[in-house]
Amino acid sequence: MPVIEIQPEPSIAIDAAISALGRGECVVLPTETVYGLAADASNGMAVAQIFEIKGRPHFNPLICHVADLAMAQIYGALGTTGEALARQFWPGPLTLVVPEQPDNAIHDLVKAGHNTIALRCPKGIARDIIASFGKPLAAPSANRSGRVSLTSAAHVLSEYVDRDLLILDGGPCSMGIESTIVKILDDRLVLLRPGGITKEALISASGLPVIAPTEGTIEAPGMMASHYSPDALLRRHVTHCPRDAALLAFGPAGEKNRTDAIHILNLSETGNLREAAANLYHHLKALDALQPAMIAVEPIPDEGIGLAINDRLKRAATPRK
Ligand code: TXA
Ligand code: MG
Repeated sequence: MPVIEIQPEPSIAIDAAISALGRGECVVLPTETVYGLAADASNGMAVAQIFEIKGRPHFNPLICHVADLAMAQIYGALGTTGEALARQFWPGPLTLVVPEQPDNAIHDLVKAGHNTIALRCPKGIARDIIASFGKPLAAPSANRSGRVSLTSAAHVLSEYVDRDLLILDGGPCSMGIESTIVKILDDRLVLLRPGGITKEALISASGLPVIAPTEGTIEAPGMMASHYSPDALLRRHVTHCPRDAALLAFGPAGEKNRTDAIHILNLSETGNLREAAANLYHHLKALDALQPAMIAVEPIPDEGIGLAINDRLKRAATPRK
């Protein structure tokens, strides 16, 4: 399983990725959010492999990653709202769900039967690769379906030891949590998944209200109740860590009791939510590897990117069927 480090010579990694993608292979790429498992979005065989490698259900569509707004407009009808959001937040952790353009070259498997398309322009080497490749890459988070997302090449390797996959190692992801996903409607935005771009930032950039998806509908088919699951049980809002639990702490100890924890990892000693997001998946995986009876999680404020952290932790705490 070849792992290529991006530094100090990114052009070697870019060339290797482009050759593999051109042959219809999947490649693991770092983005600013999480590592993605990428393939040529116009190649049905290549896209089918993404579903197979991840064990992902075929009803769950994939995000198309583009190099810029001009490339996005070939495949999706962004409208004035989508264009304004793209100008403000791309490249960056924002995915726009918009109507697809007629007769576009994106394979139907990517859209999983929807007539909308999810578009995102990532930061960094992923974007350079798409620009050189000249067409969009379909890329879900690289984790196996339903599991914790991967934010380092080492974690990708441990998830796919049995696979012959090209992995580009760009170090830890700077943001550490998946992109915000919004569906653009005429007069409002529907927040399908909270992420690094906050609701307040979306309202101010678009001038439109941002609403939650209708209760009971799964608008983003990947947003299942149970997701991002570690092997251990996970319990949230813990202020007194039970015996035998591994503790995912947040902020200074203060009034909280941590004495019974078998191991403690702190998302952010100072209570910084951005730092906590960047550490979330790494710390969850590291605690899970200790095979504790339970992972106990201290309370995390429901504001800014804390909303995205709590969204992921809520799903991670929901037992798998
Ligand atoms: O940060 C990210 O977005 C990462 C990196 C790799 O870019 N990607 C990512 O992809 O998180 P994935 O597949 O793990 O999550 C994408 C979510 C899924 O819940 C999927 O159902 C939803 O986006 N989605 C994709 N296309 C959609 C569409 N046309 N309509 C509604 N939801 C869509
Ligand atoms: Mg995912």
